[in-house]
Amino acid sequence: MSVEESPGFSRGRGFNSEILSLAKYLASSRPEFSLPEMNQYLSRKYDEKELYTILKPHFFDLDLFCGAGYTCTKLIKSPLPADEAVVRELEAQFKNPGLPLHIEKLIETYIEKSCGKNWHKGETAALIHENIVKQKEEYWTGKGGTKYPKIRIISYLLYHFPVYFCQYQYLLLGLFRAGLLMNKMSIIDVGSGPGTITLGTLDFFRKLKDIYSRNKMDVKMNIRMGSIEHESQNIECYKELTSNFHTGDISNITIDEPVHSFLETASVPKNADLIIFSNVLAELKAPPHERAVVVERIASLSKNPTLLIIEPADLDNSKALRITQHALINKGFNVYSPCSFIWGKVCSGVNCWSFQESGNIKAPGFMEKIADTTESYRYLNTDMKFSYVIMRKDGLAKHAYRVKGKFMALSNLKKHIKKHINVNASVMSGNLGDEKTFVFKICDGTTSIPCYAVMPAYHLTENNRVLIDAMYGDIVGIYGTLVRENKEQSSINLLITRNTIVNLAG
Ligand SMILES: C[S@@+](CC[C@H](N)C(=O)[O-])C[C@H]1O[C@@H](n2cnc3c(N)ncnc32)[C@H](O)[C@@H]1O
Repeated sequence: MSVEESPGFSRGRGFNSEILSLAKYLASSRPEFSLPEMNQYLSRKYDEKELYTILKPHFFDLDLFCGAGYTCTKLIKSPLPADEAVVRELEAQFKNPGLPLHIEKLIETYIEKSCGKNWHKGETAALIHENIVKQKEEYWTGKGGTKYPKIRIISYLLYHFPVYFCQYQYLLLGLFRAGLLMNKMSIIDVGSGPGTITLGTLDFFRKLKDIYSRNKMDVKMNIRMGSIEHESQNIECYKELTSNFHTGDISNITIDEPVHSFLETASVPKNADLIIFSNVLAELKAPPHERAVVVERIASLSKNPTLLIIEPADLDNSKALRITQHALINKGFNVYSPCSFIWGKVCSGVNCWSFQESGNIKAPGFMEKIADTTESYRYLNTDMKFSYVIMRKDGLAKHAYRVKGKFMALSNLKKHIKKHINVNASVMSGNLGDEKTFVFKICDGTTSIPCYAVMPAYHLTENNRVLIDAMYGDIVGIYGTLVRENKEQSSINLLITRNTIVNLAG
């Protein structure tokens, strides 16, 4: 019996494995080869397109970039170049955040397909309105869901998706600036829902690729996107949206079949470079410190992954994130940002309500359509406010600064009420006050008593303006500030007057 006649032999599989083993050989022995060239060594001839299609799922594992002209180049893993011109152009594209038009179209087409062209009118709109309100209360009974079974996803896409998409891209831009995005990356979208993070990643890399080519930079990349999700309907939506995303010139992005599973028991991804938990940990039944077990398990087969955890900014979820973060520190992870442990000791994560505010996004057309009612405020969601942490295992931190000089740790402030002192601390909020009094949460990792820098607007000078201009997580030195106790709030305020000097420390 010939090999081809043997039981279980599949001609396609047989030929494919011949192609794959040749590609493996060529990838390991040459810096570059062309797909048509492979025909010299194969038992039958293939069209280059055919070879490309067969090998595409393997390019990532083979460390190959195969681009125009079907030339395959060996990829050496390195940070994506973040030259000033590239960063400037990317920043300009994200300056006025909002959904890119092609994503807006993708979402609206999906909504129309599910609920009809008139989804924003009459009975359907009423059902969606009802569901958005219910979803905001994190409660959905399923009422009305029979006629439009996808109504829950539709509401999510209309109300939550745009802001979550934009805030993720904002954080991704930070990772890019920091050199934490590589030309070869395996990215896992955990609790992927309809695909917010995956679509945000695809769009980000498409923008980046366009900028590189406009700047005549030949940057080859190969990105693999994986996802884990337990709800079938979300997976269906994920597959439809991501397969309709036109990758254009970024064909070297592979989207894996979603892993349909609870993340507590899902098969653990291997060698991931970036693992994102966006708005998913709060949905786990486990208490905050035990969520770290789930996160650690998902990251356990990756050498030095970047973990990005994003949670809502509300008091409970935000505080819960810091508890999970602390438990992850105990498991060997370190915080890259936003927290800096400038006294060389990590905080307990207790009683910490800190979130980033990155401004408003432009409401996409579909959100405006569903909000076209007398109570439009209920259906408009444009405020980017979120709590996040980026963690690593290699000790890398955004700010490596340690306190130098004569500064008081915030844990000692209680002993110095009504005295003028100097402190070093990270600015851990936007303005929590108003235009008359600026209030910023500050933290140096030494205390769980909330501390705030409070500046009446009329005390703003060139010498203390840094406090107002500081970015979330920036470390400042504050010189000559008066310590005040706020007994009602069980907090400490540092009064910033025109005589207080504030400068950037980190
Ligand atoms: C609020 S959505 C977030 C979706 C997406 N990551 C985003 O940021 O828009 C939470 C998602 O996590 C999924 N999820 C919740 N608990 C999960 C679990 N234990 N295992 C897997 N997926 C889970 C839900 O089904 C849902 O799709």
